[in-house]
Amino acid sequence: MCGIVAYVGHREACPLVIKGLKRLEYRGYDSAGVALMNGHGLEVYKKKGKVVALEQELAGKELHSTIGMGHTRWATHGEPNDVNAHPHYSFHRKLAIIHNGIIENYAAIKQALIKKGHTFASETDTEVLGQFIEDIWENNGGTLEEAVRLALQEVVGAYAIVIMNEADPTQLIAARKGSPLVIGVGENEFFLASDATPIVEYTKDVIYLNDYEVAVIKNGVLTVVTLDNATTTPYVHKIELELEAIEKGGFDHFMLKEIFEQPRSIADSMRGRVRVNEGTLQLGGLRDYLDKLAKSKRIVIVGCGTSWHAGLVAEYIFEELARIPVEVEYASEFRYRNPIIKEGDIVIAISQSGETADTLAAIELAKSKGATIFGVCNVVGSSIARATHAGAYTHAGPEIGVASTKAFTAQVTVLTLIALAAAKRKGTISDSLFRQLLAELESIPAKVERVLQAADKIKEIAYIFTYARNFIYLGRGLNFPVALEGALKLKEISYIHAEGYPAAEMKHGPIALIDEDMPVVVIATKDSSYEKVVSNIQEVKARKGRVIAITTEGDTQLPGIVDFTIEIPKVHEILMPLVSVVPLQLLAYDIAVMRGRNVDQPRNLAKSVTVE
Ligand code: F6R
Repeated sequence: MCGIVAYVGHREACPLVIKGLKRLEYRGYDSAGVALMNGHGLEVYKKKGKVVALEQELAGKELHSTIGMGHTRWATHGEPNDVNAHPHYSFHRKLAIIHNGIIENYAAIKQALIKKGHTFASETDTEVLGQFIEDIWENNGGTLEEAVRLALQEVVGAYAIVIMNEADPTQLIAARKGSPLVIGVGENEFFLASDATPIVEYTKDVIYLNDYEVAVIKNGVLTVVTLDNATTTPYVHKIELELEAIEKGGFDHFMLKEIFEQPRSIADSMRGRVRVNEGTLQLGGLRDYLDKLAKSKRIVIVGCGTSWHAGLVAEYIFEELARIPVEVEYASEFRYRNPIIKEGDIVIAISQSGETADTLAAIELAKSKGATIFGVCNVVGSSIARATHAGAYTHAGPEIGVASTKAFTAQVTVLTLIALAAAKRKGTISDSLFRQLLAELESIPAKVERVLQAADKIKEIAYIFTYARNFIYLGRGLNFPVALEGALKLKEISYIHAEGYPAAEMKHGPIALIDEDMPVVVIATKDSSYEKVVSNIQEVKARKGRVIAITTEGDTQLPGIVDFTIEIPKVHEILMPLVSVVPLQLLAYDIAVMRGRNVDQPRNLAKSVTVE
């Protein structure tokens, strides 16, 4: 939540920062601002709305500065408006600060500052932190860096901050705890950002700042110290991210591009891991932990939102193939219970961003209870990836649309590979089924491609239901989490109320909602529960519900019963979610576009949820 960009070097900072903010807008988009040193000291410009509103505000101004920082906000303290937007000046305007995270004890710090005569322009916790740092700087007589460290030692909560100060136009100070911060290292220039996307076109050399570290860039030199002032030697990573991966490439929206990228992203998540001809599977990041996994008595999967849905799919697959009991927990609930973690339990944390605060906290809790933690993350070098003992990246490439699509299918693919590896090691899968599933996995990208060819037909169906007020999604077995995911996609980007249920649960309550105005999407593929699902569809039709069925190619029965069918290729039941989710992603996308919604940046949401 909230995106941070900063630059110091020899380029014009303002356009660079604005461009970077646009790349980070998926993290928050209710207001934006920049701070520059434009020859008249430290200047702050900010505006309610998207980055483009700020850009319009700045248009025509002569802004020349080789140092600058900017912020795109997802409001936590105080409504989105010009005043609450970041950067915030300190009380005597000696410094300006941008912040991603929440300062939990800001009220106590604010009270102490008010007693000293401070006043505040905004309602934000960030302004309080800026004033606190300045106050220490003014009264301790030390350096600004020292004041930052001292202030942060008093702070409870999460933060990634960047500070500019009036006295030194070469200096940026940054720090992190719990919110991500990446430093790009160029030739006599440095970039700071919440992720690498604003940096990648300038340099591939990055440093991931760790929790409790403070980075000081001054006169072209970077030093990193801990909060207790111990010097650390930062490791410079080479990032592989390419610029094309973070641009729309001719699609109207990132979400559509990402839906259409799935044949490639699913293949990428298997690349170098699956060798169909040899009948082998390699997961380098789990190699040393496979025995532990195969011997585990229980797996607990934690995640949020779409990642939690991927966990529900994995529950079926692990139990079926590896015969290991699985529990799937919302990370936000797990972290505040006193969960029973026994020796030999494995916790798998799933997260696209690798930054979700609840998932990170669940990991720390499980770790403190002695669990072994595996991560299934998309963003390389993310906090969750680094907090786990072992794991497998999903390699789906950057996902920028706020609604998760290709990350889900990549997560399910990687979780399937982990389950297959565990089953093989444990001896709960026959060699022939193992080989068959590897071959079936390899065929998934082509099958997803076939579903994507039905995009025009799906658009026609979407048109008919554009103004529906509610939707129900039904599925059984592995298609039940897919129903949940389809409903989540629709509600988050179209703002239509949608619920997913196991098809058989409908008659225990939700059936009361069915009438001729209720569209019901049913995943009714030819699998072990097909006949039962057909009966559930009959129950909906008997109450005049309008059924859109996802059917297997060649199904001749359902077209005669339901209102609309969307055919998908035949897939092994275990792998069905990888294909059956795709028409639901397209349906949600089309409805949202037809309703005029901002698909890539739906209201109230942010891509990376780094607050509780
Ligand atoms: C839904 C969506 C969210 C995320 C959730 C977890 O489309 O994107 O529900 O899945 O916020 O995020 P990650 O996977 O980054 O931990």
